[in-house]
Amino acid sequence: MSKITTARLLAMKQERQKIAMITAYDATFAKVFEQAGAHAILIGDSLGMVLQGEASTLKVTVDEMAYHTRCVAKGCTQALVVADLPFMSYSNSDLACTNAATLMRAGAHMVKLEGGAWLSDTITQLTRQGVPVCGHLGLTPQSVHVFGGFKLQGRDLDQAAQIKQDAQALEAAGIQLLVLECVPSPLAKEISELLSIPVIGIGAGPDTDGQVLVMQDALGLTTGYVPKFTKNFLAENDSVQAAISAYVCEVAEGRFPGPEHSFN
Ligand code: KIV
Repeated sequence: MSKITTARLLAMKQERQKIAMITAYDATFAKVFEQAGAHAILIGDSLGMVLQGEASTLKVTVDEMAYHTRCVAKGCTQALVVADLPFMSYSNSDLACTNAATLMRAGAHMVKLEGGAWLSDTITQLTRQGVPVCGHLGLTPQSVHVFGGFKLQGRDLDQAAQIKQDAQALEAAGIQLLVLECVPSPLAKEISELLSIPVIGIGAGPDTDGQVLVMQDALGLTTGYVPKFTKNFLAENDSVQAAISAYVCEVAEGRFPGPEHSFN
């Protein structure tokens, strides 16, 4: 696999090649996932839940994100490294630039932030200063208490229209990638067709330009509640690398996610 850049991801969308992204939080998994063919590795603030055992992502700090970003970046030579700006670390443009700089210095190639059109000025500032930005719409976990739980978003017409409008505003502001989480498949399809940049889905059906999974979900390392949109790729494979190769392959061939992993 040649080095994955934002330009390469855009070309993949244009050539209708699906993008496979997965979270990792350390060098070993990042290296194995890259060798398995993952195009992008996300240091998600999901680490607050899957590593730290918290009930949400809200307690994660910029220093913790920087530590895990540094670890992941050590393991990656080809994949695009995307790091989450955690809760309240981008509540104004100056703060966003300072914290994004910390993550970029730790080895990120792009930062991800959650929210709609209100982030436009911040995104413009970041991109002007050399920081590629990934947006995140739909179920944005940092707003879990506003939503009243980890719930499907965009089900009613007003909500769907708002998400579409936000996606267009974020693209106009300069994002180069968009994660859409837990929205009905037809809405995700419409947004993927509407935008020129690649749209990566999680719980957003089969018609986005790529998929992202939390690594613990992809490897069946879940206790208790297992979200509908996940799949344990280790169940039918005998190593972590083979499991993630199967994930990349099923995404590329449009076999994952299936209807059983999607919302309509
Ligand atoms: O934090 C994370 O892992 C994420 C993914 C669920 C997209 O944002």
